[in-house]
Amino acid sequence: MAEIGSDLQKAIALLQSDELVGIPTETVYGLASNALSTKAIAKIFEAKDRPFFDPLIVHVPSIEAAYQYVTHIPEKALLLANHFWPGPLTLLLPKKPIIPDLATSGLNTVGIRCPQHPLTTQLLKLLPFPLAAPSANPFGYISPTNPQHVNQQLGDKIRYILDGGECNVGLESTIIGFEQDQPIAYRLGGLSIEQLEAIVGKVEIQLNASSNPAAPGQLKSHYAPGKKLIIGDLETLVAAHAHLRIGVLAFNRNVSGVEITQQRVLSHSSDLSEAAQHLFAYLRELDQFSVDVILAEEVPPVGLGRAINDRLKRASAQ
Ligand code: TXA
Ligand code: MG
Repeated sequence: MAEIGSDLQKAIALLQSDELVGIPTETVYGLASNALSTKAIAKIFEAKDRPFFDPLIVHVPSIEAAYQYVTHIPEKALLLANHFWPGPLTLLLPKKPIIPDLATSGLNTVGIRCPQHPLTTQLLKLLPFPLAAPSANPFGYISPTNPQHVNQQLGDKIRYILDGGECNVGLESTIIGFEQDQPIAYRLGGLSIEQLEAIVGKVEIQLNASSNPAAPGQLKSHYAPGKKLIIGDLETLVAAHAHLRIGVLAFNRNVSGVEITQQRVLSHSSDLSEAAQHLFAYLRELDQFSVDVILAEEVPPVGLGRAINDRLKRASAQ
């Protein structure tokens, strides 16, 4: 098992020797290594069992730092960065050669993000290089939102996890790219389309679901528990699966016909931010319960609700 602690010097020493470290961000925990070292990046793909066609996000402490790694920041990208960084926003920008091709899977853009977590901000400021960090879970499984989640799944592959407590957003960053300087959302996430559009106007949404998409976080099956997950009207689903042991993931209320201990409610007050915070942790719990099937319902498709529904759908795809 990895050690969990808040010793920045220890994290720095490991990262400087091309080792992996689990890091907290406001969205989900990342599996970090030196983004300028091909050797360090290769260890990420190995530990996650991640296909090489899936590019990594590079984390920086500031907009100024981002300029070291990209050739150009379109006007609307800069507007968004100024407004939402540090925060749950990744910008796809034309990369400089200093970013290894392995990090971007050979693409000429690099995903850059300035995360918002005091410990990781401090870490990024102290390091002489940016950090490549995908979510710290085996490829295709539910993303981790606390250090214990990371340890449960990758503890035998890494030595240290920085303890930043529970992630307060709980959904991965929203990914925005640009075509002729027009913003396009490739992954819905912790920053809502409404929030983005309030700053830059219309944002087109292009969520891929093919087998080799531009943003594999958009693979049809992703963020998935081991158990079968079915989405629909909970009362109807519970009745139809009465012969099985059922786990329930509900939006704002418990349902009848299933033991209360086998149910998780995302937000009793119908608060979508709270629902997002709980989503991955509850999916993990339900996955570990003695149930045969997990029944879930969609949440209202506004604000963060769209990203929550997106994750639920991918988690339910076989
Ligand atoms: O919130 C987050 O973004 C978290 C934390 C740790 O920062 N990271 C994260 O990384 O979710 P990951 O690797 O699980 O998902 C990154 C997604 C992948 O689907 C990848 O395909 C996409 O970002 N991506 C990265 N660079 C890209 C690029 N140049 N073009 C298209 N998609 C890219
Ligand atoms: Mg991921």
